[in-house]
Amino acid sequence: MSKLVICDHPLIQHKLTFIRDKETNTKDFRELVDEVATLMAYEITREIPLDTIQVETPVAVTNAKVVSGRMVGLVPILRAGLGMVDGILKLIPSAKVGHIGLARDHETLQPKEYYINLPTDAPNRLLIVIDPMLATGGSAIAAINSLKSRNCDQIKLMCLIAAPEGVKAVQEAHPDVDIYIAALDERLDEKGYIVPGLGDAGDRMFGTN
Ligand code: URA
Repeated sequence: MSKLVICDHPLIQHKLTFIRDKETNTKDFRELVDEVATLMAYEITREIPLDTIQVETPVAVTNAKVVSGRMVGLVPILRAGLGMVDGILKLIPSAKVGHIGLARDHETLQPKEYYINLPTDAPNRLLIVIDPMLATGGSAIAAINSLKSRNCDQIKLMCLIAAPEGVKAVQEAHPDVDIYIAALDERLDEKGYIVPGLGDAGDRMFGTN
């Protein structure tokens, strides 16, 4: 079973409170999401491997650590996932960014991919799928399916807020994909919104509500 990591750093939790607040305006919402994404990037990279190299300080030669292993790729799910990309790139500027667009098929009610563009070396990268809201899990599962069908085998999922239903669905569909969230909320309502959640993440990020 995959890991569920709740990033409970006090700064993340503090900022998340104002992200949730319906009185927070679009500019502040966007800035807070960006900041939380940076802080979560710190948590999600906690286990990446290190190599030892020699470095010459002004005083002596010493052994020192550098990150090794796979390079990172970010894969935001359009459109709300875009709001977390820049915050992560501040800590991992070498990451390449792919995009996946999913829309609900009116007949099957399942997410249908309408756009995908990945770095050519995506299969060799540690891919972080980004979607602020993990509600039913349908979009995240579809995005991960799509990456796996393209030979990508090292994938993590980063969300701001998750519903228990979404976590369960992703863990069942993709037991190899660790999930990083800032909060695990109570439930989904009848319209598929996370309760208490923050409303529609895309609308609040882009001022379309
Ligand atoms: N997507 C959102 O933007 N908000 C929710 O609460 C659920 C899905």
